Amino acid sequence: MKFTDSPVVELPVGTAVLSLQQDNGSMHVGTSVWPCSLVLVKFIDRWAPLTTPENPYSHLLDFKSKRAVELGTGCGVAGMGLFLLGLTDIVLTDISPVMPALKRNLKVNKRVLGKNLKHSILYWNNIDQIRALNPPFDFVIATDVVYIEESVGLLVSAMEALVSENGVVLLGYQVRSPEAHKRFWELCNEVFDIDMVPHDHLHPEYAYEEADVYIMKKKKKEL
Ligand SMILES: C[S@@+](CC[C@H](N)C(=O)[O-])C[C@H]1O[C@@H](n2cnc3c(N)ncnc32)[C@H](O)[C@@H]1O
Repeated sequence: MKFTDSPVVELPVGTAVLSLQQDNGSMHVGTSVWPCSLVLVKFIDRWAPLTTPENPYSHLLDFKSKRAVELGTGCGVAGMGLFLLGLTDIVLTDISPVMPALKRNLKVNKRVLGKNLKHSILYWNNIDQIRALNPPFDFVIATDVVYIEESVGLLVSAMEALVSENGVVLLGYQVRSPEAHKRFWELCNEVFDIDMVPHDHLHPEYAYEEADVYIMKKKKKEL
């Protein structure tokens, strides 16, 4: 399972199938479906049936009454997938030039989703836009968003501002730039306790060597 340039990507989620429309010819990276989004959704899909005995993620995946926000949603894959898996109070965010691609995908999948999901323009450096979302959130979702060294600090600050003290950042990750990678993990290590999901816990048909899923929680402040 790798990056595909097919204009439509179909993703089975639970009992539904998302139809994801992408435009790889656009100048905005957010109009493509990036593979870590599929890896994250299918990881959750694998463990979401909380009836599975000895499910190590049963506590994490108790989505009832939880609020979530997705950063850099692009075509909306992770947000739509997690909505279908029970994270129903979610708002999908990105920069304004990506909104047409997001809105198109929300419309195409409206029948499967049963509604038009909440979405909002959010630039990671815009404190007013962050405040307008009314944080804190129980979950911050992000996939394939670490690729520009200059924006890494803004991204980590936005994550920190948006996630609650006991909340979780769910991150689909692949190294896209060595410099951004180094800076991102330096900053995350200051703010979050970080767990990487073992590869054998990912969905076997939606996993590949370079892609990881991370579960991050705010470090507890020393009293
Ligand atoms: C590589 S794409 C990944 C898109 C989607 N998450 C996926 O996995 O398919 C990175 C996304 O981050 C968004 N992004 C980059 N810099 C941003 C910023 N400063 N504020 C908000 N979004 C940003 C881009 O617009 C783009 O949609």
